[in-house]
Formats: sequence, C-alpha cells, structure tokens
Amino acid sequence: MNARSTLVSTLARHATLRQLQVFEAVARLGSFTRAAEELFLAQPTVSMQLKKLADTIGFPLFEQVGIRIQLTDMGREVYTACQEVFGALANLEMKVADTKGLKRGHLRLAVITSAKYLAPHLLGRFLRLHPGVEVSLTVTNRERLLDRISAYEDDLYIFGQPPEQLAVEAHMLIPNPLVVMAARDHPLAGTRNIPLKRLLDEPIIMRERGSGTRAAVIRAFEAKRLQAPVARMEFGSNESIKQAIVAGLGISVLSLHSLVLEGTNGPIAVLDVQGFPIERHWYVAHPKGKRLSVVAAAFLDFVKQEAAHMAENLDRELGRTRPAKPTAARKERSARKRERH
Ligand code: PGA
Repeated sequence: MNARSTLVSTLARHATLRQLQVFEAVARLGSFTRAAEELFLAQPTVSMQLKKLADTIGFPLFEQVGIRIQLTDMGREVYTACQEVFGALANLEMKVADTKGLKRGHLRLAVITSAKYLAPHLLGRFLRLHPGVEVSLTVTNRERLLDRISAYEDDLYIFGQPPEQLAVEAHMLIPNPLVVMAARDHPLAGTRNIPLKRLLDEPIIMRERGSGTRAAVIRAFEAKRLQAPVARMEFGSNESIKQAIVAGLGISVLSLHSLVLEGTNGPIAVLDVQGFPIERHWYVAHPKGKRLSVVAAAFLDFVKQEAAHMAENLDRELGRTRPAKPTAARKERSARKRERH
C-alpha cells in the first residue's frame, strides 16, 4: 500500500466528513477566516476541527509562513485524498439526481407523420424500463416539424432526412423504404418491374403539401425527367390514404412501415415499380448545442442502441426480406442535396 492509500484508510476510520470538508476549504482558500465564512462556522470551530484531524493523522497539516498558512507535505497528501473523496461524492450526487430525473422526468418527443408507426414501439420499450417517465408525443408533417425544431419546442425529434438549413445533431436510425401501394386486387399487383411512367396512368393519392413523403415522390419522378404526378386526392394522414387505396380510389407511395399492423400480404399490395423502394432513413435529432434533460439523454441513448433490433422487428412484422436496392439509396442521397425543406 502506498502512503496515500494508507492515509485514506486512516481517514476513513478516524476522521469525520465534516473535518475533511473544513480542511479542504482551508487548504483551498488558504485562510481560516474565509473557510469559516464559506462554511458558516465560527473560526474557533474551524481551528478545533483541524486540530482533531491533525491529531488523528499524527502530523501537522498546516504551517505558518509569515502571516500566511501553507500546507505541510502531509497536508498536501490529505488534500489530495479529500479531492478524491469529494469528487466521488459529487459523482454519486449526480447519479442520484439522474435516477430521480428518470423516475419522474418528462419527455417531449415530436415525430414526423410516417414515424408514428415506429415511435410508439420505442416508447413502449423505454417506458417499461422507466415507468415513471411522462411522455408528450406530437405527430406532425415535415414542414411543421421543422418549425418546431426552430422554436425549440420539444426535446427530441424523429424524422426523415435531416434538414440542411437547421443546425441539428442527427443520428441515423434505420431504413425507411417508401413503396408504391395498391389494392390487393389491383391489375398491377403481382406485375414485375413496372416502369415508373406507367404510374402516371393511375389515379394517385398524395400526402399533403409539406410532407416529406410527397417531396420524395415528386423528386423520384423529376429524377427520371417525368412530369410530377397530379394528385387525384390529397390526405394529411397515411391511414386515410390506406383506406382510400383499399376502397379502390387509387395508388399511393407511403412508408413501408405504415403496413406494420396488416403486413404486406394484407388488403394492400406493394407494387414492384422501377426505382422503388425509395430508401429514406429515420433519424433521431435535437437542435445542436441544446442541453438534453436526463430523460431525453436516456431516450436518445436507448433509441440509438435499439436501432438494429428495431429494424429486425419491423422486417419480421412486415414479413419481408429487405427490398432495398443500393442504387435507390444512392439516388435518394443525391436527391437530398436538392431538397429545399
Ligand atoms: P412525412 O415525412 O410524414 O411528412 O411525409 C416522412 C419522411 O420525411 O420520410
């Protein structure tokens, strides 16, 4: 055992934390008077506590040099030990505060419309670990979500491609394939390699203006130098679009994740169209430099760790082998550069 660890164990047996606290203040401030003021103690109390500590250790801790006091060699050893003890206690205090935060904290999460199929699963698993946490979940489209980020309205955001004009710290989670959907009895269901142009002959149901899905669809047509599809109908909700597809009102492009409950063998068929799926990704993000609450930081870590597991679960629930084509991902990346949102 070296000198300092022997000393630490002696201190642990005989010194009180209060004595160490008084000693630490005198050593740091170089003055009995200022230490007494900082600790709201009378000066004789400070002197008495220091004497007891020096007696326990068996060496003087300070020496008088002119009108000033300074640490002896042993005093310096004790000071180092004090810093370690109080450092460890400060860490413990932080952990206790964190645990309290996670027991009672509040998480404000805003997700883009199509991520509503993902967020509840993540929240469900997170809340099983931290049942005391309260959550407000806002679901809105890309344009509104970007407004919310600018206004610092929430702790964390889940959306498609990170906006280039906003300073956000974004972590890529999992692929979010956009696919062409039609009613199961649609004549194109089961046809292989349908040319993109062919979709223009079909009534197309689009997401509303401001939607990231809509912007990605329009870019896919533009990339092939085709006119953008004219929407037969526009809906602000993926679920309404699915109902309209099943009712035979048209075809649409939506996130494959929107089929998570019914799977890909249900009433909606995924069409095999050239250039599809458009391989977008989900990101979790927060404004750059924003200090996250204990709960938000814990959720962020959790979501990052869960990403791989989440992708597997979704694939299983969707009963699919991943249809992603590398070329589609590349196209989407270059399309992103042109993204205005
Ligand atoms: P949306 O966005 O829900 O606004 O269409 C989805 C996305 O950006 O991938």
